[in-house]
Amino acid sequence: MSTDTRRPEAATPSPVLKHVVRTERLTLRSATTSDTDTTWTFRQLESVNEWLTGCPPDLDGYRDLFNDPERLASTVIIQLGHDHAASVIGDFMLRREDAWAQLEMTDQAKGTQAELGWVLDPAYAGRGYATEAVRALLRYCFDDLGVRRVVANCFLDNDASWRLMERVGMRRETHAIAESLHRSGVWLDTVGYALLANEWKP
Ligand SMILES: CC(C)(COP(=O)(O)OP(=O)(O)OC[C@H]1O[C@@H](n2cnc3c(N)ncnc32)[C@H](O)[C@@H]1OP(=O)(O)O)[C@@H](O)C(=O)NCCC(=O)NCCS
Repeated sequence: MSTDTRRPEAATPSPVLKHVVRTERLTLRSATTSDTDTTWTFRQLESVNEWLTGCPPDLDGYRDLFNDPERLASTVIIQLGHDHAASVIGDFMLRREDAWAQLEMTDQAKGTQAELGWVLDPAYAGRGYATEAVRALLRYCFDDLGVRRVVANCFLDNDASWRLMERVGMRRETHAIAESLHRSGVWLDTVGYALLANEWKP
């Protein structure tokens, strides 16, 4: 009798954004490996990286990071315009999560929360594109995914990011003092924002 020693292949995670979303000026779609080099053009910039976890120093390293299946599934590409030639102007994060719950309630808490994150090509900053995209993702989170809470976090010094959270109606819930270590060597404050489905004003 032969024994099959092969390990079952890990299932490729399916994209959190299940369909293309169009807003007045933008197209939002799930990322594919073909978005690697385009997103690298702005991801590698020092100004973009100031508040991010970081970016590998070379394109090969970035390819490995960007093409990680979990990451790809939770990356939303933002394009300016609605046709095939629409340029990529940003990549956002849309992650579905389980809320914390006591043991007896873990099933009911599964997938009830989403976390958003964002990176916009600085060439397209200051025109409300990120605001437009985040509003569309909030709608997707509440209407399509049916989550009850959406959260986002950033360094307190990243004004552009928390101002965006406030523009779309998110509430500041936490201000943690000297919580996270920035690459400057300084422990910096972070802020956490959230929006509940019943607080959302489309
Ligand atoms: C965070 C980030 C996405 C914000 O970008 P942004 O350009 O400020 O956001 P928007 O595209 O929504 O544009 C808003 C600005 O355009 C202006 N604006 C112009 N037209 C607008 C419109 N139709 N609607 C809304 N705002 C508009 C707003 O007044 C605002 O300007 P202000 O900051 O001077 O008040 C961007 O700074 C970024 O990618 N940073 C680097 C990566 C990063 O730090 N990510 C977050 C990590 S936690």
